[in-house]
Amino acid sequence: MQYHKHEAVIVGAGGAGLMAALYASRSVDTAVISKLYPTRSHTGAAQGGIGAALANLEEDHWEWHAYDTVKGADWMGDEPEIEFMCREAIDVVIELEHMGLPFDRTPEGKISQRPFGGHTNNITHRPVRRAAHAADRTGHMILQTLYQQCIKNNVNFYDEFQVVDLLLNEGKAVGVVAYEIATGELHVFHAKTVLFATGGFGRMWKITSNAHAYTGDGNGIAARRGIPMQDLEFFQFHPTGIRGMGILITEGVRGEGGVLINNEGERFMDRYAPSVKDLASRDVVSRAIYLEIMAGRGINGEDWVWLDIRPETVNKYFERDDIRNPDGTPRRIDADYVRKKLPDIADFTKTYLGVDPVVDPMPVQPTAHYAMGGIPTDVHGRVLIDEERTPMPGFYAAGECACVSAHGANRLGTNSLLDLVVFGKQAGLDMARYCQENDWTPLPENAGQEVAEMLERIRTNDGHEHVATLRTELQQLMTKNVSVFRTQELLDEAVEEIQKLRERYKHIGIQDKGKTFNTELLQAWEFGNLLDLALLTATSAANRTESRGAHARDDYPDRDDENWMKHTLAWLQPDGTVKLSYKPVRRILNPDGTYKYPAIKRVY
Ligand code: FUM
Repeated sequence: MQYHKHEAVIVGAGGAGLMAALYASRSVDTAVISKLYPTRSHTGAAQGGIGAALANLEEDHWEWHAYDTVKGADWMGDEPEIEFMCREAIDVVIELEHMGLPFDRTPEGKISQRPFGGHTNNITHRPVRRAAHAADRTGHMILQTLYQQCIKNNVNFYDEFQVVDLLLNEGKAVGVVAYEIATGELHVFHAKTVLFATGGFGRMWKITSNAHAYTGDGNGIAARRGIPMQDLEFFQFHPTGIRGMGILITEGVRGEGGVLINNEGERFMDRYAPSVKDLASRDVVSRAIYLEIMAGRGINGEDWVWLDIRPETVNKYFERDDIRNPDGTPRRIDADYVRKKLPDIADFTKTYLGVDPVVDPMPVQPTAHYAMGGIPTDVHGRVLIDEERTPMPGFYAAGECACVSAHGANRLGTNSLLDLVVFGKQAGLDMARYCQENDWTPLPENAGQEVAEMLERIRTNDGHEHVATLRTELQQLMTKNVSVFRTQELLDEAVEEIQKLRERYKHIGIQDKGKTFNTELLQAWEFGNLLDLALLTATSAANRTESRGAHARDDYPDRDDENWMKHTLAWLQPDGTVKLSYKPVRRILNPDGTYKYPAIKRVY
């Protein structure tokens, strides 16, 4: 076992981890531990833009952005946290620009912005251009920019180290244990503060936009260390993944005018969201696609629809709906414009489907995309361990693994990149403050021993169960039972079947008994995280008897504010059962005691 000591230890090198590292490293000794080479982190897969009411092309206000986010969240988001994020958005995007991020530009040289789902002009209720973008590679550019800044700032990087445990002592986070992938050696990191920025866990579904690395490692570790998971029942299905593969086709396609078409050639979002149509929030659009499929209007009667960005189609609808440029001229696009604004999409669809999107429409279906829930935190990234929002000293989380909660029951597109940089920055600042104000707490006795024994058991066990088989079964189960539409029967069955898979997981065997680059061992360990999180997700969903945001129940079709405007907290118990509790949604009151954002039925 090797030992290291850094005041701030950050686990994960995506946007949230790197932004936190940048800010913490300005005043304290900071290390980033990542299972991937940093610029391969999943932030790089976020395509269409980062939301900020810069008003570069038309009137916009951070207050409109906040209202759209509260509404998109279906009144499950914490309103002070949403306002914080939307207010900070403007400065943080300009800060990224000053760091060198190559945003697309308007003819006058301002950061270019495009429309995105659920982002509206709050007066006309029409889509507003709010997504600042670098072609369709915005997340990729954020990652490259922040990594360069961290290198410049002398952040210590431990690349291809898998963190496998969180070390606690005296009720505080005091470090982590990591497995060096190249050698199989264990490393204990002693820290004053630990931040988890480990991303999501969409790999528990069969069709997902998530990278193979998205296995909920930080959430799994935290859950096993007694931290509750908040609101896991709200998992977002992005409407447009490549059919059969799930690879993301950015909402930016619809932002640039692309439309969804059923097998009757109909632009069906006209019926589901008469005002913003294809740019309704993602839960609404994904449900609409499923309803079309269930009504037999999927293409060829199958489970997918067309996404059409061909200029002749787009221009037809621009003309029909009288869509105009900021200068008032009628909006029209051509093939060169599409290729310039969406180069990666054109590349993906040509590579995976042999489809050139300016010539043919793209086959798409909803794809598991984003966890609205996660490790409960406040705006400073401090992890909150109970209903009273008590912070655990020294422990932080940010990004998709965390739940602030700025996304509530459904996140708006572009607000994930925003969440990473806003709350990553706040976490980095608070970690630095904490490190400067507090002495070192010793490591617990035998730090790393427990996890070393657990990994050795996986490596040497000769069980008859195969991880790949169990993973396929889990993905099929989650896709069938815990998907866009849910019922009590499906969810109860999911909980029961996941428990059976967890039992079988105890009897796995792996073939690679070596220590060098033993990715089979790591995949077996990662799968354990997916299983634990699937159990927490299905149990939280089975208990919420209403429909809200991404949690749509056939048997409880209405939102029930009286009984369910509250956050779920789910604890994984040592005996493998789940304990549930709830805490109120944080709302903002006007001086006269009325709600600033009265909860209304969402109409798009
Ligand atoms: O559609 C997209 O480009 C995805 C962005 C997001 O999830 O925010």
